[in-house]
Amino acid sequence: MPQISILSPELCNKIAAGEVIERPASIVKELIENALDAGSTEITVEVGHGGKRMIRVTDNGTGMDREDALLCFRQHATSKIREYDDLFNIRTLGFRGEALPSIAAVSRMKIITGRKGAAGTAMELQGGELKETKDAPAAGTSVEVRDLFFNTPARRKFLKTESTELFHIIDAVTKEGLSNPETAFSLIVDNNETVSLAKAAGLRERIMQVYGEEFLAGLTETAAATEGLEMQAFVSTSSSFRNTRSHQFIFLNRRPIKDQSVSHAVYRAYEGILPPDKHPLYFLYLRLDPQKVDFNVHPTKREVRFEDKEAVYRFIVAHLRDAVKQERREYVREFSQPGADDREIDAQSFSAGMPAVSENLEFAYRPSLPYIYLGGTFIAVSGRGGLTVIDHHAAHERILFERLLNSGESSSRQLLFPRQVQVTGKEYGILIRNSELLKTLGFEIDEFGKNTILVRSVPAEIEDADIPGILPDIAAGLLDEHTAAKPLRHDLAARIACHSSVRGRKILSAEEVTRLLEDLDSTKHPDQCPHGRPTRIFYSLHDLDKLFKRK
Ligand SMILES: Nc1ncnc2c1ncn2[C@@H]1O[C@H](COP(=O)(O)OP(=O)(O)O)[C@@H](O)[C@H]1O
Ligand SMILES: [Mg+2]
Repeated sequence: MPQISILSPELCNKIAAGEVIERPASIVKELIENALDAGSTEITVEVGHGGKRMIRVTDNGTGMDREDALLCFRQHATSKIREYDDLFNIRTLGFRGEALPSIAAVSRMKIITGRKGAAGTAMELQGGELKETKDAPAAGTSVEVRDLFFNTPARRKFLKTESTELFHIIDAVTKEGLSNPETAFSLIVDNNETVSLAKAAGLRERIMQVYGEEFLAGLTETAAATEGLEMQAFVSTSSSFRNTRSHQFIFLNRRPIKDQSVSHAVYRAYEGILPPDKHPLYFLYLRLDPQKVDFNVHPTKREVRFEDKEAVYRFIVAHLRDAVKQERREYVREFSQPGADDREIDAQSFSAGMPAVSENLEFAYRPSLPYIYLGGTFIAVSGRGGLTVIDHHAAHERILFERLLNSGESSSRQLLFPRQVQVTGKEYGILIRNSELLKTLGFEIDEFGKNTILVRSVPAEIEDADIPGILPDIAAGLLDEHTAAKPLRHDLAARIACHSSVRGRKILSAEEVTRLLEDLDSTKHPDQCPHGRPTRIFYSLHDLDKLFKRK
């Protein structure tokens, strides 16, 4: 029950101060967290023009009486802590009494709030000054923020385009949604409902609402507890590794946080399972006794300080490892499937210190030449005065990459049944906006609404199986920085190629090996995959002589 008071100056000085309002998304985050602290079960976020013109967050929480309403936008006014010791037992998302005054100071704000069954209050502020107070019926709270930074033009200039600000807003709503399944969220963007999350039965259901069933199927769930520390986690199985660090979340006591040591722990748990340059998806929900963690280290509270960081680290590694152990076994089995060569060579030590890829290697491959598989990835072929070792995935990537760039639309294959793929709101927006560009790479997509994309055609070389994985990756590419050295279309083609060529650790037949080598030979840059890794390494007899110290 809010009972706001102003913190003493001594206590204020102990609080990690700093700018909490950077951009519209920070306002959305703060207002949602206030609504959650007020026990809301339904939160509606409306934004206009990327939040630059208007943000309104409406909740069905406790609301405030007149006295609290008149205090809430004052500096260091909070109902959440009173004294110094409270800082070490934070159970609410807010505690500094900074958000409302900071937002009010740089906008035109309207607050309508009231407790159920009591008279409510409507207030209008401008640049932090109260202009008007009226009676108004309300059960819950609605905070409207217009014309952000209208009185600080220097800060307004730092705002990005409406669509960029909108992505950050969608991100913020998604994160809060992912950590508060029992609350319903709705995000309305320029009068269109863009995110709609009904009250969910738990975290699993909430992740499903946001990302869809197929995505969830690629995650394994695990839970563990020890004294004062609990974890519920949803993490990648080997079928859902990604090329980027997308969809990696850590929540601590329902608060999205960033923490190097926790994310390191996750990667540690995947040691020996995660292929190079791949990243797991993870949703880590941690619950820690609030006395064992300090939330008061960063102005936006995104970073925390654990009392015993190492214990948390060890706990996460140990339990996630167990969860992915099953996965590890499957991985090993795949590698030694029949067809793979028994005399497996440790590829890493084999190539260490080897001569660099020969430039313009002229490789005349004849189908009759003998080849062997080394492990599941490398093919060794003898011929032309030496030995060539080919990374068949990298080679495939190079071939596909060039085909995508060259043929584009013409190589597009119409799907018999258009495929529906659910993505996040952020991904949805950027993909739809770039559908013309995607068409030039062989993807024909359409809006289906509710963050679902209808895929009508895909590049001919691609199997539809991985479409749910490719689309988010393309979206990530569209959001990335691009330069002359890394042009957008190349980046996207590389991402698509990467997905299609890693599918399965399939061992190629003799015929397929032949075709692969021929195709590779006919590419413009046969020696490197689109990411710059070698596709093939040639050891001439002369190189071999040197390696065996005969010369
Ligand atoms: N949506 C809301 N519902 C009920 N009370 C609210 C709401 N938003 C803010 N308040 C009250 O206003 C106070 C100040 O909010 P804020 O400036 O965000 O500081 P903090 O959340 O750190 O306490 C809160 O402590 C709370 O009592
Ligand atoms: Mg707050």
